[in-house]
Amino acid sequence: MPKQRLEGKVALITGAASGIGEETVRLFAENGAFVVAADVQDELGVQVAASIGSNRVSYHHCDVRDEQQVEETVNYTLQKYGSLDILFSNAGILGSSSGILDFDLNEFDNTMATNVRGVAVTIKHAARTMVARNIRGSIICTASVAACVGGSAPHAYTISKHALVGVVRSACSELGEYGIRVNCVSPFGVATPLACSAFNLEPHQVEANSSSKSNLKGVVLKARHIAEAASFLASDDSAFISGHNLVVDGGFSVVKHTFSPI
Ligand SMILES: NC(=O)c1ccc[n+]([C@@H]2O[C@H](COP(=O)([O-])OP(=O)(O)OC[C@H]3O[C@@H](n4cnc5c(N)ncnc54)[C@H](O)[C@@H]3O)[C@@H](O)[C@H]2O)c1
Repeated sequence: MPKQRLEGKVALITGAASGIGEETVRLFAENGAFVVAADVQDELGVQVAASIGSNRVSYHHCDVRDEQQVEETVNYTLQKYGSLDILFSNAGILGSSSGILDFDLNEFDNTMATNVRGVAVTIKHAARTMVARNIRGSIICTASVAACVGGSAPHAYTISKHALVGVVRSACSELGEYGIRVNCVSPFGVATPLACSAFNLEPHQVEANSSSKSNLKGVVLKARHIAEAASFLASDDSAFISGHNLVVDGGFSVVKHTFSPI
């Protein structure tokens, strides 16, 4: 049997009960990893873990806005599987869509608390563990095409995802010394609950929208494509890649086109 891409690795994935996180839990487990799936949607998270198998995947409640819960979740991962090789810090919210002229600063703080602060604190505790145990780990965060261009998502979200790329580059600058890589993936519109409910669209409408706006034709963007990108960055196949933003958008953000919200 050929060696699986993530054989024996231990991964912690946040935002794992739904959408891109759920799909990544499934792919990482298929590729031989042991996974702690963390989220605030406990019922869904337990179902995801049970559907894969308790020998491979465990669910743990973790609100990334709460540092104590993040630290406990990292400790749980160590107790359960004895290591922490991969962090996929994926939990995120779309937040409020208020215009810049009537920008809601409380909503802005709320979006930043999950999308930026929440990711930074997961990196802090995962990286502490990796450094203390001499683990040459891989940290991957979920940014967005909204980290590359303005006008494709609400202001608070766009600002938070640009900041997240800053978190990735800054953490990368310190952690390289320990052999720890820090990267992010930036999806275009994927038909997850986040994208569908925000724009009140059915999954096929989100997919049609992304297909029509991307430069690449003949492929429909699925959560699995983002999971594959995360799996590449998690694995030794990307051994010399750090500080990178892997944009998975079929050329949307780099080719001239007429703008409209995704
Ligand atoms: N779907 C898209 O089109 C798209 C595009 C670009 C980026 N993204 C990013 O992908 C990531 C995953 O989103 P998705 O599309 O799979 O949406 P989703 O809503 O299906 O999944 C997000 C998960 O994060 C969890 N979550 C939210 N706040 C949390 C918190 N404070 N602590 C822990 N978990 C929390 C939710 O419960 C949910 O299970 C997000 O960071 C999002 O910004 C999504």
